[in-house]
Amino acid sequence: MSDSDAKARILDLVRAFHVSEDKEFVPGQTEIWPSGAVFDEHDRAALVEAALEMRVAAGVSSRNFERAFAKVLGARKAHLTNSGSSANLLALSALTSPQLEEYRLKPGDEVITVAAGFPTTVNPILQNGLVPVFVDVELGTYNTTPDRIADAIGPRTRALMLAHTLGNPFAAEEVAALAEEHDLFLIEDNCDAVGSIHRGRNTGSFGHLATVSFYPAHHITMGEGGCVVTGELHLARIVESLRDWGRDCWCEPGEDNRCFKRFNQQMGELPHGYDHKYIFSHVGYNLKGTDLQAALGLSQLRRLDEFGRIRRRNWRRIAEGLDGVPGLILPEPTPDSDPSWFGFCITVRPDAAYTCRELVDYLESRKIGTRRLFAGNLTRHPAYLGQPRRISGTLENSDLITERTFWVGVYPGVTDGMAEYIAESIRTFAVQRTGRRHR
Ligand SMILES: Cc1ncc(COP(=O)(O)O)c(C=O)c1O
Repeated sequence: MSDSDAKARILDLVRAFHVSEDKEFVPGQTEIWPSGAVFDEHDRAALVEAALEMRVAAGVSSRNFERAFAKVLGARKAHLTNSGSSANLLALSALTSPQLEEYRLKPGDEVITVAAGFPTTVNPILQNGLVPVFVDVELGTYNTTPDRIADAIGPRTRALMLAHTLGNPFAAEEVAALAEEHDLFLIEDNCDAVGSIHRGRNTGSFGHLATVSFYPAHHITMGEGGCVVTGELHLARIVESLRDWGRDCWCEPGEDNRCFKRFNQQMGELPHGYDHKYIFSHVGYNLKGTDLQAALGLSQLRRLDEFGRIRRRNWRRIAEGLDGVPGLILPEPTPDSDPSWFGFCITVRPDAAYTCRELVDYLESRKIGTRRLFAGNLTRHPAYLGQPRRISGTLENSDLITERTFWVGVYPGVTDGMAEYIAESIRTFAVQRTGRRHR
């Protein structure tokens, strides 16, 4: 049997091995996860094919994924990373590059971000010796607003680093205009929002740089993985250098002398002709992904639109089922947005007849998984106490979120029946508790 026949047979067997994850939904017994990966037989075959070919480092699938994904987001360049957190670290670190000359961010410069979010949106600010300026978010959209950002801008403010919370786009066009007006860089943390649309454009296409996560909870997955995308080629080069050990050379692995100057230039204090492959222009990292990840990512990318449709449908179904339920602040899309939702976010009103904890316990007892809006108010966590920071205005909504907000799943593994059960469970609990108090 030839190698290619053997491979084809193995891949046929792998596809046959795949068992659909669609099982009968038994309310109260089947776990409804808040998030998770949805795989088909082609995903499984793509991953095994990369493994059969022993493409265990970054290679052809990584490059193909980068090209395909940049196209999806309407960016010029995408760089695959080993996680969304690494993508955030690279995006912000890129702004500190000496190659940006007088525009580079310097230690002590400020970056505006939100208090209620995911830690690794904020951590690169601190990791680069910069100062986070925390602003509050709105309840309902869970994003901050252009006026809050405008109020927070000070003489040392140089950048904005903001996530589209749970898939709901922040007012990206206005925020980008504000950034331009004040000469600020804008990084969109698009980790939870791939496929979301704002004013007819993809989120991730408004900022100087945007980041994505491909962890299983996200819109498509490679297991672990992430991406930095940008429309600006000079930033792309810096990101690539920082990702790839800080090297100056941009030859792909296994490729030599693309610049035609490999042995024919002088940089830093090195001798003339020192091999460009080993010249380092940044104090870099190695945050690359692998072809195993990229092969899976390419396969998942086929289903991005389908997954987005299911997320939207599940979100609508839960929203319709919760219309008028007492005691809840329901989520709402920001104006001019069509979110590819990450989750369905609920805040229990301070005057509700029940607490957030009671509702969450009830849902968990019915096997309905819940998650917090990540860190709640990040500034209250042990890691951030005593860190450099500025707080602009109050963080009262972020505090409320810490006490009273959670989300339930809309990912494509949630079926219509599950979405209806989630809504019905919340409604039953809230109506019963409210009725009891008013009796
Ligand atoms: C908004 C946001 N940014 C960044 C990340 C980090 O992504 P990763 O888990 O791939 O490091 C997450 C993770 O869920 C996230 O929700």
